[in-house]
Amino acid sequence: MEEKAYKIALSDPIFEVVTQAADELGVDCYAIGGYVRDFFLHRGSAKDIDIVVVGSGIELAKQVAQRLPEKPKVAVFKNFGTAMIRTAAIELEFVGARKESYQRNSRKPVVENGTLSDDQKRRDFTINTLALSLNKKNFGQLLNPFNGLEDLQKKIIRTPLNPEITYSDDPLRMMRAIRFAAQLSFTIHAKSLNAISQHNERIKIISNERIVDELHKILASKKPSIGLALLHKTKLLSHILPELMALQGIEEIEGQRHKDNFWHTLEVVDNIAKTTDNLWLRWAALLHDIGKAPTKRFDKKIGWTFHAHEFIGAKMVYQIFRRLNMPLNDKMKFVQKMVLMSSRPIVLSEDHVTDSAVRRLIFDAGVYVEDLMTLCEADITTKNPRKQQKYKANFKIVRKKIIEVEEKDHIRNFQPPVSGEEIMKTFSLKPSKEIGILKDAIKEAILDGEIPNEYQAAFDFMLKKGLKMGLTAAH
Ligand code: CTP
Repeated sequence: MEEKAYKIALSDPIFEVVTQAADELGVDCYAIGGYVRDFFLHRGSAKDIDIVVVGSGIELAKQVAQRLPEKPKVAVFKNFGTAMIRTAAIELEFVGARKESYQRNSRKPVVENGTLSDDQKRRDFTINTLALSLNKKNFGQLLNPFNGLEDLQKKIIRTPLNPEITYSDDPLRMMRAIRFAAQLSFTIHAKSLNAISQHNERIKIISNERIVDELHKILASKKPSIGLALLHKTKLLSHILPELMALQGIEEIEGQRHKDNFWHTLEVVDNIAKTTDNLWLRWAALLHDIGKAPTKRFDKKIGWTFHAHEFIGAKMVYQIFRRLNMPLNDKMKFVQKMVLMSSRPIVLSEDHVTDSAVRRLIFDAGVYVEDLMTLCEADITTKNPRKQQKYKANFKIVRKKIIEVEEKDHIRNFQPPVSGEEIMKTFSLKPSKEIGILKDAIKEAILDGEIPNEYQAAFDFMLKKGLKMGLTAAH
């Protein structure tokens, strides 16, 4: 009965081809890793399949490719003893079983061949050691020497060997443990968690790219706070994002306390994860209060302040992205913009919501105004139900007004309704600062709602204003 169920995991016709090729070569091979794990978790079958070969992975890959009708190219990584085949539907990675630790991105070439069980025990977690046989003689048989299946059922992340060994083989696994805990809502085995806490500084030898990759996956998970709290608990975070770590804590002076901005941030990230899959908006949520640690002051009259934290925070976004080798492109600028503007809608909604304030918000946020609203709604973490309701109701009004104002005035992609050239022509001006003054005055009048965002109204306004400035209209 069980055997049959495991064959279902291998029902893709590609496995039949692998079976034939392996049997002909006379090598044993197995599907292993994420593909098998996700099958047992009912996570839908992954498109990339890892196949471990007791023998040459490269030879088997070549044999398989030859038998496929589309004759795909085999990408060979000789140093690592791996080979990859990509068809339209599936990616197959073949690797020779090894005695050493399995690290896909390591620069260290693989030297020693091993048995299946050698290979399994040098992998990261028991749930990733599950192997399904692909040879005809025992097709679909599960090889589960580390009780990975039981750990899957108990939802436990555990290393096959002593965690000290597994993590020292590849310290990135400390982050992978946390990432899997976040993605799958699993618990990390106590010994493992201890080992991570004890050796957190080893993460320093791992490249930023690999670290960021795991961070992305944590942020993309359903409840990112699971992973972020573990990064915090094990202090891995102090090596990766010390700026976030610095947000933790509550200070009290003269009976006045501020909130703990670290735990608040985690709530905001969880909130936003419920409403958007946009990874960069989730990054913005993670970093939205980052400027609060360096700007924190206590003022006897007004209490705790974080003056200009949005501005400082936006600058820190750049520094963090640069340090982590993240892209310094429009994604980074987007996160900066969100952080810079993160308090605007709240301030706006605390008061009576006016059309002109909404117009200015749309003007400044441009096409990202909805994203900004999503961030600010996620930022409401007050436990006071009266305040919570008030903010939510006000944000609803802001959203409604954004639509109304936008329909009327089209501010989002604001283009000056009267061009600089026309201003020059109207007043027979050469390029001069007056043109800038007039253009700015038109823009301000539109944002204040004095005139609609239309050509004729803007032209009349410009004419009047120019005459007032002492300019002479040409005929
Ligand atoms: N692996 C490992 N140590 C690492 C990376 C990977 O032992 N540092 C092993 C694991 O057995 C893992 C397999 O290599 O299952 C494939 O790695 P990868 O594709 O990175 O992860 P998946 O488990 O496939 O999971 P996902 O695709 O969700 O990242």
